[in-house]
Amino acid sequence: MKENIIAHTYQVSRKERVVSNNHNSFLLWFTGLSGSGKSTIANLVEKELFDMRIKTYSLDGDNIRKGINNDLTFAPKDRTENIRRIAEISNLMIDAGLVVLAAFVSPYKKDRQNIRTIVKDVNFVEVYINTSVEECERRDVKGLYKKARAGEIKNMTGISAPYEAPDQPDIEIKTEIESIEDSVKRIVDFIKPKLQLTHE
Ligand code: ADX
Repeated sequence: MKENIIAHTYQVSRKERVVSNNHNSFLLWFTGLSGSGKSTIANLVEKELFDMRIKTYSLDGDNIRKGINNDLTFAPKDRTENIRRIAEISNLMIDAGLVVLAAFVSPYKKDRQNIRTIVKDVNFVEVYINTSVEECERRDVKGLYKKARAGEIKNMTGISAPYEAPDQPDIEIKTEIESIEDSVKRIVDFIKPKLQLTHE
């Protein structure tokens, strides 16, 4: 069947959209343990960008795993499929001219590499929210670590499933030693040049 699917050429392209928006589009990907602070930081970054009149959209486990990915578990194969679909959705949103902020545990290096391939390297900014498992467990915002220790949750990242930290993230935030305000500022400062359109 695939050979019978031929891409249509549209009148309005990504290029036209970003020129109309007056900023570039790309994906800011937040990875880290559950409870590390990914969504909190991503939300504050989005607010800053929104106030700068940047067109944004946020994706996270709550809006994705309850909707389009509600058929997926936390088994390794399903996590891979979770991340693949989110990367494809992000790719469409990049094409739509948006700055996409995606906050997912995404524990496997190969899955994160696959995002890079899907959206292309130049459109991908990897932000590692580095909070130790001890600290995430201490905060235990959602009570999931307690449940995992009690054996009520299987495959819990950091407890009974692995987290493969990025070797060379674009930005690393150590939440135990850096304030939220400083972290947000560092991320916004990093992406400001990426927002600029390059005029040919
Ligand atoms: S991912 O590994 O596939 O990227 P995703 O970010 O979508 O995970 O979902 C993680 C969120 O689901 C966590 O923040 C947590 O609230 C919840 N969750 C429930 N069970 C697990 C589990 N076994 N491991 C990790 N997170 C879990």
